[in-house]
Amino acid sequence: MAKRFVIVTGGAGYIGSHTAVTLHEAGFTPVIIDNFSNSKPEVLEGIAKIIGEIPEFHEVDCRSQSVMTDIFQSYAAQGEVIGVIHFAAYKAVGESVKKPLEYFENNIGSTVALLGAMNASGISNLIFSSSCTVYGQPRKIPVNENAPILTAESPYGFTKQACERLIKDACKSNASLSACLLRYFNPIGAHPSALIGELPLGHPSNLIPYLTQAAAGLREPLTVFGNDYPTDDGTCVRDYIHVLDLAAAHVAALQWLEENDASCEAFNLGTGQGKSVSEVIQAFEDANGIVVPYIYGPRRSGDVTAIFADAAKAQRELGWKCERSLEDSLRDAWRWQKKLAE
Ligand code: UFG
Repeated sequence: MAKRFVIVTGGAGYIGSHTAVTLHEAGFTPVIIDNFSNSKPEVLEGIAKIIGEIPEFHEVDCRSQSVMTDIFQSYAAQGEVIGVIHFAAYKAVGESVKKPLEYFENNIGSTVALLGAMNASGISNLIFSSSCTVYGQPRKIPVNENAPILTAESPYGFTKQACERLIKDACKSNASLSACLLRYFNPIGAHPSALIGELPLGHPSNLIPYLTQAAAGLREPLTVFGNDYPTDDGTCVRDYIHVLDLAAAHVAALQWLEENDASCEAFNLGTGQGKSVSEVIQAFEDANGIVVPYIYGPRRSGDVTAIFADAAKAQRELGWKCERSLEDSLRDAWRWQKKLAE
């Protein structure tokens, strides 16, 4: 049977690596494109151990449109290129405030180049890695896809909004191009094999990588950023989704694009459950039987009080829903942290 290739930009990254594995399990052949700007070659070894073969891989910067076009065309000659899943992007909110031009150049530039390469190669399905950050602090939670897109709080958030817009416009101008804009809530956890997970490169700014490193004694106690928010326990509320559930949604979205005459559709990907920082700490302690050292500190600038998903559209249209609990995610996150320490 002809191979069914799926291009995965940023496929050596956190969500990209788990999606490559899930694509393989669903019968696709993932083609990973990554320049290791925020990942390491070892990730490919982890993927290979899980799927039992060395994944197709190209070390390329996605802004190189002509190189990307050549790669796409070479796979089109070997089988069918079903679509592209575009993860490759810088993703640190705080860093984006310090280096806005680099974020615009990389995140928006790579999306423009990618659309050009897809056009030149006749690839018609695109899945874009977006974020619930496009909603800011929504007036109504759970937030659905019709909520207004608010002025971005950070250059990072702006790049997600800008890419969504340019993909929408590209779809309008090209009837054969279809896209899903997947708005992630807070991805956490790791593959249960602990062969892939979120790589700790530098000081973690996200909650779970910091929490697991603090629990392992590698960092100072976790600082809970603010306990005076207008929530039940005073700490911020988010929607934490297992990275493998998120990965499965990409496969569902790709299959949906193949089967439907869609143009450009946004989907929220979350569990629909809001959990506070204090609840996450408690759940981590209960799931893993260890104590998390933490202190309360001031609020972090730019944090919204509470956000969680109305993911009914993804369930209805894509036939997808989360299968894993918060405890599953926190157990897998801790298993991954212990593996890193070996
Ligand atoms: N938090 C702490 N201490 C820490 C780190 C985080 O208390 O050391 C808290 C934050 O204040 C927040 C929650 O944990 O309340 C989650 O914070 P993360 O940094 O893990 O995640 P965010 O919700 O801030 O950010 C995530 C993604 C971004 C995306 C954003 C959209 O990481 O890419 O959601 O809201 F833009």
